[in-house]
Amino acid sequence: MIYPADDFRINNNSLPPASHGGNRWAAQEKWGIAAESFLDFSASINPLGPPPMSLQAIQDNLPALEYYPEPGGAELKKALAEYLQIGEQGIVLGNGSTELIYLCTRLFCRRRVVVLAPSFSEYGQGVDNPRLVKVDIDLKSLKLPITEIATVLKEGDVLFIANPNNPTGNLFARWELLLVLELVKDRQATLVVDEAFIDFAEDKSASLRDVCSQVPNLVVLGSLTKFFALPGLRIGYALSNDAHNRKMERLLPPWRINSLALAAGSAALKDQDYIQSTLRLIARERDFLDYSLNQIPGLSVYPAQANFILIDAKDLGITADQLQDLLGPQGILIRDCSNFDNLSPYHLRVAVRSHPENEILVAALKEALIRK
Ligand SMILES: Cc1ncc(COP(=O)(O)O)c(C=O)c1O
Repeated sequence: MIYPADDFRINNNSLPPASHGGNRWAAQEKWGIAAESFLDFSASINPLGPPPMSLQAIQDNLPALEYYPEPGGAELKKALAEYLQIGEQGIVLGNGSTELIYLCTRLFCRRRVVVLAPSFSEYGQGVDNPRLVKVDIDLKSLKLPITEIATVLKEGDVLFIANPNNPTGNLFARWELLLVLELVKDRQATLVVDEAFIDFAEDKSASLRDVCSQVPNLVVLGSLTKFFALPGLRIGYALSNDAHNRKMERLLPPWRINSLALAAGSAALKDQDYIQSTLRLIARERDFLDYSLNQIPGLSVYPAQANFILIDAKDLGITADQLQDLLGPQGILIRDCSNFDNLSPYHLRVAVRSHPENEILVAALKEALIRK
């Protein structure tokens, strides 16, 4: 389903602030458990924590705090170029990819912001009075709604697609994205593909990072927040052609990536042991959670390629909010997804964590469902 320009879902006021998982401080307030003691399945961060080489780099660079950071972030760009196998000149660094999401809307939206429903709630934020158009994803097939996008997309629009998508966790195929890119070129619109979770995917060929230097209508965003477990340092990047890169650099402030983030980010991308351990852990534990949750009668589990899993508890007749109320006193946080468009009060999302933690979650869910 599409909600076109004259539909009530077009929002002509500023959007309300988006709400996210990972709010352990609100949970502390509600359940009287110390924020740091929660087992947090609501935020999707690598359970291994930051790479050991990043922690060492932070330690080594503490004396540099009295100097300004290197303004161009040359070393981090070099490390990113090697990691992503692209040219260094195509990279713009951001204080988290959210800074670049906001910038893309300001830079490319001459008409409307087109988003998928459900998808990450920051798309469309960062401007006054965004004209937002939402295109539903079919929750059964989880295919990119190409026909609906073709119906709605107009000149001057900016279309955001997260791949893998948050909160559904599926990976759209490269051919689907390339078809949409053709449409975007044809309509003189802009496509922003947000690849914040793509490092967790088994098949990275869906990434469009290799195409963006040649196409003016495409920006690819990435982040070190999720895979490298560095949400507190705020490191994101944008990949696009030379003209867009120069413009983005002009519009962003200098020194936006602090010295510790520059050092830790460069080290993270070279920490091969950590990268390989993460890939093994997430693949194994995603399978374990997928299997174990599917064993619980009444839960529908969506197939995932990221480090989180979307679940529908409708057949059990228990909402995500009720489930959180049962799990909260045990110090377990899940993501209630009822505030995403095109999802219901019965949808919840859980992060893939370590094996003992995942076992605790599965056991707690089984028990909660018996007690409900
Ligand atoms: C799809 C997606 N993109 C981007 C972000 C933001 O990442 P960052 O920490 O780099 O701003 C998130 C955070 O949840 C996300 O889910």
